[in-house]
Amino acid sequence: MSAQDVELLYLKDSGKEELQEVRKAEKRRQEKERRTVSNTVFQEEYPMELPAILGGTPVREDKIFYGRQWVNEDDIEAVRKVLEGPYITCGPKVSEAERRLESYTGAKHAVVVNSGTSALHCACIAAGIGEGDEVITTPITFAASANCVLYCGGTPVFADIDPETYNIDPDSIRAHITPRTKAVIAVDFTGQVVRVKEIREICDEFGLIFIEDAAHSIGSAYNGVKVGNLADMTCFSFHPVKTVTAGEGGAILTNSDELYNKLVLAHAHGITHDEEQMEDAPHEGVWYYEQISLGYNYRMTDFQAALLMSQMDRIDDFIARRREIVKRYDEAFADVEGIIVQKEIPNSYTSRHLYIIRLDLDKLKCTRREFFDAMSAENVQCQVHYVPVYWFPYYRHLGYEKGMCPNAEEVYKGIMSIPLYPRMSDKDVEDTIHAVRKLAEYYRK
Ligand SMILES: Cc1ncc(COP(=O)(O)O)c(C=O)c1O
Repeated sequence: MSAQDVELLYLKDSGKEELQEVRKAEKRRQEKERRTVSNTVFQEEYPMELPAILGGTPVREDKIFYGRQWVNEDDIEAVRKVLEGPYITCGPKVSEAERRLESYTGAKHAVVVNSGTSALHCACIAAGIGEGDEVITTPITFAASANCVLYCGGTPVFADIDPETYNIDPDSIRAHITPRTKAVIAVDFTGQVVRVKEIREICDEFGLIFIEDAAHSIGSAYNGVKVGNLADMTCFSFHPVKTVTAGEGGAILTNSDELYNKLVLAHAHGITHDEEQMEDAPHEGVWYYEQISLGYNYRMTDFQAALLMSQMDRIDDFIARRREIVKRYDEAFADVEGIIVQKEIPNSYTSRHLYIIRLDLDKLKCTRREFFDAMSAENVQCQVHYVPVYWFPYYRHLGYEKGMCPNAEEVYKGIMSIPLYPRMSDKDVEDTIHAVRKLAEYYRK
């Protein structure tokens, strides 16, 4: 029975909605039939594997995800000790974690906070962002990199990305500078450091504050200098998929005493215990403190700080394993037509947080959505980082429009993040490679 016959039959005694359902079901049946026929022909011509989404066998039985934390017994013990002790927040572990981040990065000051988002907000407060100020950032990032500017009443301005590294393009930063520009928030996307030299030069030339969103890049370096020392302020995130985790958490690193003082105030209610900063001296007694600016409660708890430090004990191992997996992926995908891998800039040492494959859609007869769904059916769960921030309805309602950053929009069409986390076994890595290669071969034009 053709679709038309079905339609006629149901037109007689069905309502409109029912008819639509019938049409849809018939369309699905036809599509299934078309796929089965073409797959059979295809399989006979080329002895390649049939994707699981079309009825083939998945590359693995259990699902792996694009990212995952690695919490061990030492981490649990470290948290347990704090929970059994007298301080569960505002205790000694928080300051220990700050000293630990300073010694790890070489930066003069660290302030730990309760998320990467609050780290960015504090950095914007310390940079003095307010109404009428513009801050240039990238659209290929998590929304927090731009939202932090809005929290302060400023305006995020989106510069385009380099289509090979996917990081913000310094030439595009330059092109977006106006007399209102006050800062640049450059994101080390996937862990690869931005082009610091050029961005520093632009910031110096126009008197801008350089904030590095290093949520992905703790442990990375540029020209031998570790992240934490490259920008005026550097923000980390300790969300569970990041290189080290505190459950939730973040930190701001700076070499400036002036910015440090502002960060301390911003993250804890604008309150100071430092007599030199107080206005009403001599003060009332040892209990006395003063609120001298408007701040927030962005403090990290002591048990989160303990978890963070325990994770920091293994950060170099985590990074080494991530780099090993990246090397294996790079080798495995180098000759796969239809798959483009991210380019690394010279002079950088990258602690990779994400591994992105970009589909060359001119060479494949599928959409990104089809490839992504096919990867899920192989039991390799990917993710897409990121939808250009200004595409979101919230930003659209603020007046941002599609088409502003053509490179970012073009790159977005083909990208997906495949699993990358230190706890992946070699088999997990090989299964992921298998799935990508299998689908690239199947869908190649
Ligand atoms: C680039 C980037 N910036 C900022 C953040 C915000 O960090 P958090 O989730 O810790 O608030 C994230 C986290 O996903 C991120 O990926």
